[in-house]
Amino acid sequence: MQVPFLDLKRTHKLIQSELESTFTRVLEGSYFLHGEDVSSFEKAFGKEHEYAHCVSTGNCTDALQLTLQAIGIGSGDEVIVPAMTWITDAEVVSNLGATPIFVDVNASGLIDVNLLEGKLTPKTRAIIPVHLYGQMAEMETIMAFAKKHDLFVIEDCAQATFAQHQSKKAGTWGHAAVFSFYPTKNLGALGDAGCMLTQDADLAAKVRKLANHGAADKHSHEMPGSNSRMDTLQAAVLNLKLPYLEKWNEERREIATHYNEAFADLPISLPKMESDNIHTFHVYQVQTDRRDDLKAFLRDRGVQTQIHYPKAIPFTKAYSSLAYQAEDLPEAYRVQGQTISLPLFPGMTNTEKQYVIQSVREFFKK
Ligand SMILES: Cc1ncc(COP(=O)(O)O)c(C=O)c1O
Repeated sequence: MQVPFLDLKRTHKLIQSELESTFTRVLEGSYFLHGEDVSSFEKAFGKEHEYAHCVSTGNCTDALQLTLQAIGIGSGDEVIVPAMTWITDAEVVSNLGATPIFVDVNASGLIDVNLLEGKLTPKTRAIIPVHLYGQMAEMETIMAFAKKHDLFVIEDCAQATFAQHQSKKAGTWGHAAVFSFYPTKNLGALGDAGCMLTQDADLAAKVRKLANHGAADKHSHEMPGSNSRMDTLQAAVLNLKLPYLEKWNEERREIATHYNEAFADLPISLPKMESDNIHTFHVYQVQTDRRDDLKAFLRDRGVQTQIHYPKAIPFTKAYSSLAYQAEDLPEAYRVQGQTISLPLFPGMTNTEKQYVIQSVREFFKK
């Protein structure tokens, strides 16, 4: 039997006719940028997040870099980022000439809030908490820390659309938040797309300008910007998928709960749902010091897995010049060697789930 890590075809089958009529409508209109689909997605997504201003962009990486640029991050500044995340969070800081300051993570892979004070210097300007795997970081502690030290907080919600902490959604805690609609995300477009959210109308307007060559209107360039747009077709697809997201997230949670119960007696560390959190299980990752053997065993049995991530960012070649050592970030170093993500996606059959469970159990019998 083969179990894919993710099968988007199944999700798309469920809404096939709606997708096809959307393609036809966009093709007939032949407006592929801007327009009603984009503005209605921005409105709908903002409304889902306490009526925040939503600025759509070409992807989440752009949304984050443009937000940092809009608040004036540049050479000489430091931005605190977790060590275990996707490279976006560090590279956007470097791209602006600032320095990412890496903080170790806790056992759940989330930024360790106990280490924040130790990372502070007179150059610290901002912090990017990442809601990794679909679970929110400890935002109340982060916001209190940021308030005390006058830091700007941008939540990276790429993996956590509709996750919650204390009944408040990811993206509604920080001064701004960014989202990815990369196809494999819980709310995925059919190509790249992203956005930023904020309650600050001036900041939203500035990011919107920066994403449009520094202009609010065509030809009125006020500053050098860049070109980062959500395509009309992607916005139309996201409008179509948005009402299904809660249901798809719930299905992910059910599979994760099933896995957690089935693996409870095994010598692996399971995803822990932190108190008062609603996890969206973008990724179901477990940790074991036999990770590489487990991965090979599952591959031989036809079960696809992934690793999020094989190297924490400070240990990649891109950041080798900062010379971080394993002992500087012990938990991120441990997680990179032990983490493995198992198949979990809406539309997964019971047979597939049982096969994954049996295969993992079989491995630990050896
Ligand atoms: C945590 C995190 N941040 C940022 C990104 C970047 O998103 P995008 O590919 O839309 O730029 C991703 C995408 O994989 C991500 O997982």
